[in-house]
Amino acid sequence: MRTVRVGLIGLGTVGSGVVEILRRHREDFATRAGVDIELARYADRDASRFARLGLPPEACTTDAAEIIADADIDVVIELIGGTGAARGVVLAALEAGKSVVTANKALMASHGQEVMDAAEAHGVDLMFEASVGGGIPIIGPLKHSLVSNEITAVYGIVNGTTNFMLTQMTRDGLDYATALTEAQARGYAEADPSADVDGLDAAAKIAILASIAFNSRVTLGDVPAEGIRSITPVDIAYATEMGYVIKLMAIARRVEGGVDVRVHPTMIRSGHPLAKVDAVYNAIYVVGDAVGETMFFGEGAGSLPAASAIVGDVIEVARHIQSGCLNIVGCTCREELPVREIGDLVTQYYVRLLVEDRPGVLAKVAQIFGENDVSLASVLQTRTDEHGGAEIVWVTHAAAERDVRAALDAIALLDVVREVASVIRVEEL
Ligand SMILES: NC(=O)c1ccc[n+]([C@@H]2O[C@H](COP(=O)([O-])OP(=O)(O)OC[C@H]3O[C@@H](n4cnc5c(N)ncnc54)[C@H](OP(=O)(O)O)[C@@H]3O)[C@@H](O)[C@H]2O)c1
Repeated sequence: MRTVRVGLIGLGTVGSGVVEILRRHREDFATRAGVDIELARYADRDASRFARLGLPPEACTTDAAEIIADADIDVVIELIGGTGAARGVVLAALEAGKSVVTANKALMASHGQEVMDAAEAHGVDLMFEASVGGGIPIIGPLKHSLVSNEITAVYGIVNGTTNFMLTQMTRDGLDYATALTEAQARGYAEADPSADVDGLDAAAKIAILASIAFNSRVTLGDVPAEGIRSITPVDIAYATEMGYVIKLMAIARRVEGGVDVRVHPTMIRSGHPLAKVDAVYNAIYVVGDAVGETMFFGEGAGSLPAASAIVGDVIEVARHIQSGCLNIVGCTCREELPVREIGDLVTQYYVRLLVEDRPGVLAKVAQIFGENDVSLASVLQTRTDEHGGAEIVWVTHAAAERDVRAALDAIALLDVVREVASVIRVEEL
């Protein structure tokens, strides 16, 4: 059994989990997987982390370049995050002939093609299971176990922060600001929560999944993303009344002539398995022509769950090194499918309007929807307030987003309409 020597760059949340697993289970890996993995070198720009993790000082450096230059290192684990230094580290390691394992969704979603090309050019592996869904195996299954399928759709709840917040808002009636404070107090949301609450984290993850599922490169910039800042307890209460749950969904579908990839709050039926995925849990629902519907569920973040995925990748790379067959799978983006404009999306819409409580309002609004080819499935409820206002909730039949937006622009100008209070897409999965 050949010893595979690993250099770990970045000793934060995930890096410390990797240290723990690789130290605790080195002997088990020899038995379970037939590989011997030695965590040989460590880099972090914060030198205080070395002593805190009890690492041998002679194996530690604050300069990642030292690890890349070390001829005895076979595999580099990149866990510093972001697209600046991390991109340089990953490219340099690949160019030095080392396989790379990373958890970096931002890098893979923005520079995936570049780093995959570099891995192929240098005949080494680049693996990134932890970049989506933390500890949930999803990239491996899409590339291996489900490869016999034509994947038609991937629906993901892939951001634990927003799923926790929406769960709190649904269960306890919290408003957005209170749910955010609660998530921050529990360490689920950062001081600057925008990457999570604005849907950008989920957009990076669905870009990665769409690229693999449809064999066509989708980058972060291709994915229209809307977050959850505008979701109110009122909309959640209406959703519940109508038998729906609001989730921040990351959606990728194979459609006529291209792919439909997007992130936004979505009403889904409360009986759907994804509707039951609560708190910080993640789930990815994959539909394939042979397998049918499958769902992958688990902890989408955290030190040990993410480290579980990282170490799984390291073991696979070690097996490849041992058998001398690196970069067998590599980049699977062999097509160039266009990503559909959000205006071309056809789905159902929930629309909540605040209007004057006067006769004829419903007819005026319905007429404008009709003039824009938007047919209405139901008018759900009206509530009047003490200021002569009423609330009307509509659900449309499947309609083009472009037409719905045009209708709402015109409706907002009606003198009887006080406000288009919310618009939420409804998906019948
Ligand atoms: N946390 C999770 O649950 C999770 C789950 C899945 C995937 N991921 C991904 O895993 C990666 C790491 O996340 P994390 O949460 O472990 O981050 P983290 O806790 O911030 O750790 C990153 C570490 O890398 C160090 N670092 C930054 N730039 C460096 C450089 N140029 N050279 C050497 N060290 C450097 C940081 O030092 P400073 O502290 O001084 O900046 C820090 O110690 C990210 O790509 C993230 O998206 C995280």
